[in-house]
Amino acid sequence: MWPTTKLYYRSYHYSLKLFSLIFPFPRPALYQGEQALNQLIDRIKINKQKSLLLVTDNVLQELGLLEPLVELLIKHEISHTIYSDVQPNPTIENVENGLNAYLNANCQAVIALGGGSVMDCAKLIGARVVKPKKSVAQLKGLFKVLKKLPDLYAIPTTAGTGSETTIAAVVSDPLNKQKYAVTDLVLMPKVAVLLPELTLKLPPHITAATGMDALTHAIEAYIGVNGNKFTDDRALKASKLIFENLQNVYQEGGNLIQRNNMLLASFYAGEAFTRTSIGYVHAIAHNLGGLYGTPHGLANAIVLPYILKWYGKKAHKSLAKMAVNCGIGLEYPTDSDKANAFITAIDKLNQDMQIPKGLPELKKSDIKKLAKKALKEAHPDYPVPKFMTLNACEQILNKLLV
Ligand SMILES: [Fe+2]
Repeated sequence: MWPTTKLYYRSYHYSLKLFSLIFPFPRPALYQGEQALNQLIDRIKINKQKSLLLVTDNVLQELGLLEPLVELLIKHEISHTIYSDVQPNPTIENVENGLNAYLNANCQAVIALGGGSVMDCAKLIGARVVKPKKSVAQLKGLFKVLKKLPDLYAIPTTAGTGSETTIAAVVSDPLNKQKYAVTDLVLMPKVAVLLPELTLKLPPHITAATGMDALTHAIEAYIGVNGNKFTDDRALKASKLIFENLQNVYQEGGNLIQRNNMLLASFYAGEAFTRTSIGYVHAIAHNLGGLYGTPHGLANAIVLPYILKWYGKKAHKSLAKMAVNCGIGLEYPTDSDKANAFITAIDKLNQDMQIPKGLPELKKSDIKKLAKKALKEAHPDYPVPKFMTLNACEQILNKLLV
């Protein structure tokens, strides 16, 4: 890579870092514990919101996960309309249908109860409420909304995406075969409600994949060049909680304290990466997801150790700090040994959760195209510790062939 290109990328990264220091990100209020839902109801009443749109998906509704919230809303005479048709990759049509439900019922705020797809769809419904003349496609990219949204209260049902505390929403446009993000400070939810009981019924492979997504958020936020004191603290807290709890909740999902710790980890990792951005693991995982439909967390989990090894010396210091914070590699004297112990621990965590080392769906003939797309996504946006050439990216993808 040309030195001038690197200089351009780094100037871009530092300008983003400067922006985040000048314009501090809003933060959602965090409600947890037995009174969390009551706190939410109190907040809705204080805000004098009498009609709400409840965004969710059909699986969660059939599992009865909405019931405690719906009962409370009824008890407190807060009218609500349920929009439950959000698909696993929310589409523009989902957003528009949700918007119609919101407008028809004269809603004043939105509750999102679900995974990242549901929360992202709810964010975009809010964006369309305040931008009635703009299509979702016209809101694509950075800071296109710039208007206060109806209050959004987010209740995650997976511990992974961190969307309850991020400023981005991803949407699919099946007609144009596109998937893109709308990113704006106004998309930040007002409240995040962490209810571990909602995650008890998650199948183990979803617990594993979403947990590894959160770990990838924490690591990419921490080793990138745009971290600050706050994001470093959040990334360290998140990774420690994940190493202490993820394997247990994968094996025995019924422990509410451990489930809550994973929700907290996902929240902390979300707080970190929404301020720092992500890195090559996500760039490759997004494109594997786009081409083959590989679940996001699973793709991240598989790619993560390869990229960390590839960073080599450039990431040793930060990975060593993260390792020590997680109680990993303490017996080793050097940063490189500690960093390698950390990568080995990730490999082992993957192995213990039946996450494979490669992707059966990956075709050799697709590798060039995938590498190009991944680097196009990463450059210049992602503040990675070391820049990757096309050839290096292809070599990493080759290692994922099974
Ligand atoms: Fe992610």
